[in-house]
Amino acid sequence: AAAPLTDPFGRTVSYLRVSVTDRCDLRCVYCMAEDMTFLPKKDILTLEEIDRLCGAFIALGTDKIRLTGGEPLVRKGVMTLVQTLGARIGAGGLRELTVTTNGTQLTKMAGELYAAGVRRINVSMDTLDPATFAAVTRWGKLEQTMDGIFAAKAAGLAVKINAVALKGVNEDEFDRMVAWCGEHGFDLCLIETMPMGEIGEDRTDQYLPLSLVRSRLRQSWTLEESDYRTGGPARYVTVKETGRRIGFITPMTHNFCESCNRVRLTCTGTLYMCLGQDDAAEFRSLLRDPSVDEAGLAQAIRDAIARKPKGHDFVIDRRRNRPAVARHMSLTGG
Ligand code: GTP
Ligand code: 5AD
Ligand code: SF4
Repeated sequence: AAAPLTDPFGRTVSYLRVSVTDRCDLRCVYCMAEDMTFLPKKDILTLEEIDRLCGAFIALGTDKIRLTGGEPLVRKGVMTLVQTLGARIGAGGLRELTVTTNGTQLTKMAGELYAAGVRRINVSMDTLDPATFAAVTRWGKLEQTMDGIFAAKAAGLAVKINAVALKGVNEDEFDRMVAWCGEHGFDLCLIETMPMGEIGEDRTDQYLPLSLVRSRLRQSWTLEESDYRTGGPARYVTVKETGRRIGFITPMTHNFCESCNRVRLTCTGTLYMCLGQDDAAEFRSLLRDPSVDEAGLAQAIRDAIARKPKGHDFVIDRRRNRPAVARHMSLTGG
């Protein structure tokens, strides 16, 4: 087999996040501005191009692929891609194929995801309150996402609920969410909001450090340190009372970059070596150049990984009222 993809800091890259569309049916306030201009179709990789590039990564040792967006399940034909990638699961190929979704399409698609080989999905749901959900997503219906979550569970998918911690929005709900997730058998993952893309709101007003959330949770729950790992950035505890896990993703209060194992591909074929940096490598022109074969693609991937930066430098700074990274989270899929 080929030598693993290793960056200049000795980190092995084995996790590829693929944003299959920048579009979304919702407009979460921390993610997008209300009025977004989406990319024209001609700039978007075809599903065949995405699958081919994923194949090149897998040949170089990538064993986990996560489809993101935007909302990955609103991309037309996405299930075809899930199926071709699903066929790559197995020895020498993918260990895990998974999806991060807002859940709105899951009542239709959960069964097909399972059939294609997906076993675990992350669903973004920041609140259990319908009015708060409508406010955070600007027009989403909580019931639609919840129905999707239960459809996923019924289809046999393990579900992790992702919630971005937002001051004054959902900060009073975490006890209830821990209880709800416990009741239904879901893990919960709390996320610190990151300063990406102009959203038309002041992030300093939304930012809530998870260190604070964790100490509040300790007043109601027994949190036991856990060494459970998924290959993602979360650190987990187990809630003794429910038996379910809570993950904490803390880019702002604890830098986890030193163990970073991932890169991200946008729907236009740009590979970002770090979520929080602008340096990128272009693959669309290579994919469309008939003189570039699989060896050429592999070399381009190696060259890109050789440029992976040490980490992000996100700061939430009231005086610097600009996002640390201009592109929106929805372009690189988090
Ligand atoms: P698991 O496979 O379940 O561990 O999922 P994951 O955490 O890798 O993926 P998910 O799409 O659920 O991401 C949850 C949150 O983690 C999102 O807000 C992402 O933006 C954030 N995240 C994932 N990877 C990174 C990273 O490398 N750096 C930073 N700063 N945030 C990340
Ligand atoms: N900061 C942190 N997480 C974010 N997400 C979207 N925008 C941000 C942000 N600015 C989350 C979504 C989803 C995941 C892919 O990223 O809620 O769960
Ligand atoms: Fe859509 Fe996810 Fe962004 Fe919300 S966080 S607007 S659901 S891409």
